[in-house]
Amino acid sequence: MILQPWPRDLGPVICVVGARPNFMKMAPILRAFAGHLPAIPTVLVHTGQHYDKDMNDKLFDDLKLPKPDINLGVGSGSHTVQTAEVMRHFEPVVDEYKPSCVLVVGDVNSTLACSLVAAKKGIKVVHIEAGLRSYDRAMPEEINRLLTDQLADRLYTTELGAQDNLVREGIAAERVCFAGNVMIDSLLHNRSLARPVTQTLADAGLPTDLLDNKDGYAVVTLHRPSNVDQLATLQPLLKVLREISERLPIAFAIHPRTRANIERFGLMELMRSPRIALLPPQGYLEMLGLMSGAKLVLTDSGGLQEETTALGIPCLTLRENTERPITIEQGTNTLVGIDPKVIWQYVNEVLVQGGKSGRVPALWDGKAAERIADDLARWLMATVYP
Ligand code: UD1
Repeated sequence: MILQPWPRDLGPVICVVGARPNFMKMAPILRAFAGHLPAIPTVLVHTGQHYDKDMNDKLFDDLKLPKPDINLGVGSGSHTVQTAEVMRHFEPVVDEYKPSCVLVVGDVNSTLACSLVAAKKGIKVVHIEAGLRSYDRAMPEEINRLLTDQLADRLYTTELGAQDNLVREGIAAERVCFAGNVMIDSLLHNRSLARPVTQTLADAGLPTDLLDNKDGYAVVTLHRPSNVDQLATLQPLLKVLREISERLPIAFAIHPRTRANIERFGLMELMRSPRIALLPPQGYLEMLGLMSGAKLVLTDSGGLQEETTALGIPCLTLRENTERPITIEQGTNTLVGIDPKVIWQYVNEVLVQGGKSGRVPALWDGKAAERIADDLARWLMATVYP
């Protein structure tokens, strides 16, 4: 803790959120900044990348995030248009607030766009969840991660291996701080508030005993363009999910991108079954409730790989790579790819043997945001009281 007051000539920290996976990372940071002595002044900017009620408002409520001070209202578009629009709208905000730094989280288009604006204006960039690499540049998020880290002045990591990735890319180790995982701060903070599964089903107008089965149930999420944008990939994935549901009922929370593609390809019938709960994108507390009671999670999400590791629930990741290797080395995650035969084999293994058990990685302890607040305050103060 620092006992001097927050210096007058040190501007606020502009905290940026844009898309769903940013919200659970920012909530504990804002709480820790407000609780720090002295309080770290913030301006919360929402780029508007995600705007649906389901993708946005519900999560803000669940996480008790304050209403953004500024909403850039950017919305959907190609990656180029989305990134450019965020930049165009964010620049005047930086000019107006004269921040001490711009703090970005994760790897979405808004993360890179705001980092670029800040860096070009000579404002410090702080990146939370730095150094994760899938080494797959076909993933838009990988480009966002690489470039954001190159622009960042202070980088906070969630696992030790991330620092090695950064140093290999020429980033000085002194700029990197291993702080732990803010997403797990949110999970631990909200765990006792998780919504019961029967309520979630009732809210969706589904029978409350749909997931009530002696073997438990599986939770499924899919949204990566590489999995859901082509008929040739999406159809076999949905077919194998349908087959799995004959053994283990499924709760499938459908991302808007995935729903649009399922409809466009005429695949909705494949998903209509009394053993599949088709759900809209879920709130944070609903998802926490669904995951906590699950036998197994099948996903291509980054966040769920970490959350299942923290909860000790087996996770089968339907991708060929992951930027979060610690969930495999230490946690409950297994990379299974998208071959239906291989997916079945691993599902069977979980059903027969109970699945992988793991341990919770270092510093995934609910205190990452507090460590970040302490370090950032010290680092910013050093720029005015050298
Ligand atoms: C984005 C992030 C991804 C993150 C994911 C979680 C990038 C590059 N990708 O992917 O890292 O894991 O969010 O959700 O930033 N849409 C809606 N309503 C919304 C938001 C989007 O209908 O509130 C539609 C859009 O019109 C678009 C599609 O969903 O067609 C994809 O949205 P977009 O934000 O471009 O990327 P995501 O796939 O959500």
